[in-house]
Amino acid sequence: MKKLQLLGDITPAQFLRDYWHKKPLLIRGAIPGFKPLLAFEKLAELARLNHVESRLVTQRDGQWNMDHGPLTELPPRTEPNWTMLVQGVNLHDERADALLREFRFVPDARLDDLMVSFATDGAGVGPHYDSYDVFLLQAHGKRRWKIGSQQDLTLVDGLPLKILANFEPEEEFVLEPGDMLYLPPHYAHDGIAEGECMTYSIGFRSPSFQELGESFLQFMADSIDLPGRYADPELTLSKNPAEIPKDMLSTVIEELNKVRWDEEDVTVFLGEHLSEPKHNVFFTPVENPLTMGRFMEKAARKGLKLSSKTLMLYRGKHVFINGESFAVGRADKAVLDVLANERRLDGALLDKATDDVLEALFTWYQDGWLELG
Ligand code: SIN
Ligand code: CO
Repeated sequence: MKKLQLLGDITPAQFLRDYWHKKPLLIRGAIPGFKPLLAFEKLAELARLNHVESRLVTQRDGQWNMDHGPLTELPPRTEPNWTMLVQGVNLHDERADALLREFRFVPDARLDDLMVSFATDGAGVGPHYDSYDVFLLQAHGKRRWKIGSQQDLTLVDGLPLKILANFEPEEEFVLEPGDMLYLPPHYAHDGIAEGECMTYSIGFRSPSFQELGESFLQFMADSIDLPGRYADPELTLSKNPAEIPKDMLSTVIEELNKVRWDEEDVTVFLGEHLSEPKHNVFFTPVENPLTMGRFMEKAARKGLKLSSKTLMLYRGKHVFINGESFAVGRADKAVLDVLANERRLDGALLDKATDDVLEALFTWYQDGWLELG
């Protein structure tokens, strides 16, 4: 793979080997001449929406305050020390989606979202650490970042946001538009706006094992098969009616031990879990949909592309899209793997797909999961 300016003229493989999860990387001019993709007003508009996750962080007289969106009112733009943070901007703006996809040298299964922050002079969200990797791209104005590799991650008690009790910065940089800072998980950082500024955070998802375990057990509940019912023809008289019989316990243990799963179960679970849209993501079914015939005609001419909101993954013969999974044959797999990887499909490739896949594509089009063009 070739060197990327985005990563400071190293290849993605070098980045993953030397920095990913290991140490920070400051990249001056990662995207030279970068201009914010959304104006302040557009961002504020998103923050007013119910289904967009947003926060307002203010610091007055040394007191931290955090409000969760929808943010119907913001302090005046001229007032210092407040930050508006808008999560998942990639879901609502195609250029933001395209920016997030520049980071696909990390698998989609790990990519989360693009968060945009707007800060007035002096504002920041305080010294803290995040549990996941992050690229902090300066989009507008200047921000002074102080960072440190400290092990002491004790937080101040009783605050509405995570603030490190003993922040010990070791390095300091002022980022200008187009500059970017990569930080591994748990790396302490504090970014203070110097004048009004906007920062774009490219975030990654790292599900906790607890979350995965709970979700996996729900998944297994739908697929286990334990025929039969408890019976005790050998029941003997007990002196203590309230005591659970020992034989009952051992029979149940024996039966529950029959619950087994293999790589295939975990593959299907993981694909469905990771491709499940977040709770606040809604698809808009296409207005006045074409007929299947017209759709196919147009798709053959113009191609197809996945909606910014669609999550599509695959593993082996299993294809996952927005929380649904299905197993496909070789010809369909070739087509769907391209759609998943490129997030678009050349019309010519539709020739190779079976009717099953064409019907699925038509349904996804109707549901707003993909678009023509
Ligand atoms: C911000 O953009 O204000 C905060 C981003 C971060 O520190 O993770
Ligand atoms: Co952070």
